[in-house]
Amino acid sequence: MLAADMAEKLKVGIIGSGFIAQAAHMKGYAAIPDQCEMVVVCDINPDTAKKASEMYGVTRTTPDYREVIDDPEIDIVSVATPNAVHMEPTILALQAGKHVICEKPLAMNADQAKAMCRAARDNGKILQVGLQTRFGGPARFVKQFIDNGNMGDVYYARAKALRRRGVPNWGVFTDKEKQGGGPLIDIGVHVLDLTLFLMGYPKPTAASGKTWDTLAKDSSNANFWGEFDRTKFTVEDFAVGLIRFDNGAMVTLESSFMANLEGDPFETQLFGTKAGAIVRPYETESVQIFKELDRQYFNLKPENLPNVESSYVDEIKAFVGAVREGKPSPVPGENGLILNAIFDALYKSSETGREEAVDVSF
Ligand SMILES: NC(=O)c1ccc[n+]([C@@H]2O[C@H](COP(=O)([O-])OP(=O)(O)OC[C@H]3O[C@@H](n4cnc5c(N)ncnc54)[C@H](O)[C@@H]3O)[C@@H](O)[C@H]2O)c1
Repeated sequence: MLAADMAEKLKVGIIGSGFIAQAAHMKGYAAIPDQCEMVVVCDINPDTAKKASEMYGVTRTTPDYREVIDDPEIDIVSVATPNAVHMEPTILALQAGKHVICEKPLAMNADQAKAMCRAARDNGKILQVGLQTRFGGPARFVKQFIDNGNMGDVYYARAKALRRRGVPNWGVFTDKEKQGGGPLIDIGVHVLDLTLFLMGYPKPTAASGKTWDTLAKDSSNANFWGEFDRTKFTVEDFAVGLIRFDNGAMVTLESSFMANLEGDPFETQLFGTKAGAIVRPYETESVQIFKELDRQYFNLKPENLPNVESSYVDEIKAFVGAVREGKPSPVPGENGLILNAIFDALYKSSETGREEAVDVSF
C-alpha cells in the first residue's frame, strides 16, 4: 500500500461465512478495528450470512461472491468456502486486484494450487493460506530454537495427525469429489505444514505412500461423532507417506480418521544433529527437547513458551500486517502448493505402488 493509504482502513469481504469464517477470520478482523473493516459477508446460505454478519455487526450480505469480487472498494478477501470452492473465487479476487487469505488446504490438488499461485504472482497480490498452527506458542518457540542453531541440521521428522475414531459426519469431509481427499488433506495438512515450517520449508522432490479405507467402510466400527453413510465414504481413512526433500531431509507422515491406536496423537518429532524435539501444539506439555550435554542425555521441557491467545487471530493480524506494510505473507500460497503437490504424489503412489515425483513449479 502507498504510505498515504496507510491511515485508511482496509475494506474486507468474506466469502463463505460458516464455521471457520466466524471462529477465525471474522474474529481476527474484528480484533483490529483500527486497521480494517468488514464490509460484506457472502454465503450461498442466507441464514449463515445473516448469523455471521450479525455476530460481527456487518450490514451487507450477499449470496453471490462475484458481488464481493466486483466491488472496487474491497481491498482484501477471505475465502472460507469448502475446498472445492477455493480456486475460483481466489483467482477472480486476485485478478480483481485484491489480496486473499484462503483456507487450507489451498486447493483440491496441485494443478489448482498452481493456478492460484500464478494469479497472485501475475497480479502482484498476496495469497496467504489459512494454516494457523505455526502462529501458536509451541511452533514459535521451536522455530526460533532451530533458527538459532540449537538443533543443528534437522534431517528427519515424523509427523502424525491421527484420530482413533474421528470421521467427521457433517459437511463433505468423506466425499473425495468435493473435498479432494480424506484425513491427509484435512488434518495431515496442518501437521505437515507445522513440520515443514519448522524445517524451513525444504523443496520436496518425491514421495511414496499408501492409503486405506477398510475401517471406515466397516459399519461394525464405532465413530466418535456418530454414524455416517459408509456407502458414500470415498476418501481414505488412513494414509502414510515418506517424503524426500532436495536438501537430503526426509519426513514420514501418518494421518487418519480411523485407526486402531491409543488416543488421537497430533504431533511432529524432529531429529536434528544437535538435538531432537517433539511438538504437540494442542497439548499442555507441548514441547520436549532431547539433547546431549557432557555425555549426559537431557530431556528438557521449556517453561515459558510464548503466550498466544489465539493463533487464528494472529494469522489474520499477520495477513493484514503484510498487506498494510507491502511485505510478503508469512504463509505464502507457495507453501500451500507444496502441501497439495505432496498429497497428489502420495495419492498417486498409493495407486501405482511406486515413488512419485513432486512437482512444485508454477
Ligand atoms: N484452519 C483450520 O483449522 C480450519 C478448520 C475448519 C475448516 N477449515 C477449512 O475452512 C473451509 C470451510 O470449512 P468450514 O468448516 O468453515 O465449513 P462450513 O460448511 O462451516 O462453512 C463453509 C461455508 O461456505 C458456504 N459456501 C459454499 N459454497 C459457497 C459459494 N459458492 N459461495 C459462497 N459461500 C459458499 C457454505 O454455505 C458454508 O456456510 C474448508 O476449506 C476447511 O478445510 C479450516
